[in-house]
Amino acid sequence: MEESQKTALKLKRLQEMAIAGKRVLVRVDFNVPLKNGAVSDDSRLRAALPTIKHLIDSGSKIILMSHLGRPKGKPEPKYSLLPVVKVLERLLGIPVAFSAECVGPKAEKAVAALKGGQVLLLENLRFDPGEEGNEPSFAKALAKLGEVFVEDAFGAIHRAHASTVGVPKILPSCVGFLVQKELEFLDRVIGNPARPFVAIIGGAKVSDKLAVLNKLLDRVDTLLIGGGMAYTFLAAQGMTIGKSLLEKDRVAEAQAVIDKSYSKKVTCLLPADHLAAQEINVGSEIQETQGMAVPEGLIGVDIGPHTIEIFTEEIEKAKTIFWNGPMGVFEIPAFAQGSRAIAVAMAKATKAGAVTIVGGGDSLAVLAQEGLAEKMSHCSTGGGASLELLEGKVLPGLSAISS
Ligand code: 3PG
Ligand code: MG
Repeated sequence: MEESQKTALKLKRLQEMAIAGKRVLVRVDFNVPLKNGAVSDDSRLRAALPTIKHLIDSGSKIILMSHLGRPKGKPEPKYSLLPVVKVLERLLGIPVAFSAECVGPKAEKAVAALKGGQVLLLENLRFDPGEEGNEPSFAKALAKLGEVFVEDAFGAIHRAHASTVGVPKILPSCVGFLVQKELEFLDRVIGNPARPFVAIIGGAKVSDKLAVLNKLLDRVDTLLIGGGMAYTFLAAQGMTIGKSLLEKDRVAEAQAVIDKSYSKKVTCLLPADHLAAQEINVGSEIQETQGMAVPEGLIGVDIGPHTIEIFTEEIEKAKTIFWNGPMGVFEIPAFAQGSRAIAVAMAKATKAGAVTIVGGGDSLAVLAQEGLAEKMSHCSTGGGASLELLEGKVLPGLSAISS
């Protein structure tokens, strides 16, 4: 059994640090969705509250830093973190200062003005090319703002950027409460899951998921595959898939996953039927397929009712369930039936005592739509990060803290 990253890396935890009155630089993942200039989902902000509140209560001077979106190393107003300030103020119940520059004299002045228990948010780190380039000079300029570094950006912990690996090399560092909680839940899946352990993997691209599928086969009892990526698997099985998504250059690797499932005695289930449409559009006419094949000219857009039944049965039997990636084109409500059914079945499983973990922005969006997020044992704030953790990769943001 692989040792968990937390134990293996002996991470220092926030509760072990002397922080009273100190300038504490916190990397958070405030990469939140924005709609018309306002935060449309504050889950990631709420997830960071335990750490921020602990720092407020300890009388630290709190400097929050994050990225938002993928600006290419220069300021882009639509990716400003400014809209976050208002929401954070409401969640914390205290004013939050903002620095429009994340390093340099202006940022230093804003930091100098902080009293114990006060909070400052820095502008988007990715407005500076030094962040993603992990430039030592940029890391140094950030580190200058604090005396202690707290890594609480679980969603960005798989990125080797200045704020995630550069700063902890300079300042005394630890992991915050969100990272601790994420590792605790994901460690259960990696280390010693209650069985049967079922993983449900969906999403559009099989190429994104092959590595984690291979790794999961060493750990799970049952693997359920849905979403656009399922069609490459069905093609590998010689099935007609109509105009459904196909990654031709991945067919052999998909077949290798199926072969490995046999040798590992893992039950690997592909969709047994589908909802199919002529086009991926709101209002497209939907057909239920008869069986695994998708008729010529049609696109598979969701798992079908028979598949929902089979997948639900597997979820009901499970003691640990991990889900990443929607079962269909969930953005269109008519094609979200499969994903909704998985969410509902998992909510029931939690109630029945199973450990249920969901990761990835799209799966979380389905839960949010259904109001079911609270019904899971754990919703991971990191899609890519949780998958890389499951793949067994050593995450740069964690090894930087432990060294
Ligand atoms: C995420 O949203 O997955 C994290 O914030 C990381 O963002 P990135 O994929 O742009 O590095
Ligand atoms: Mg992402």
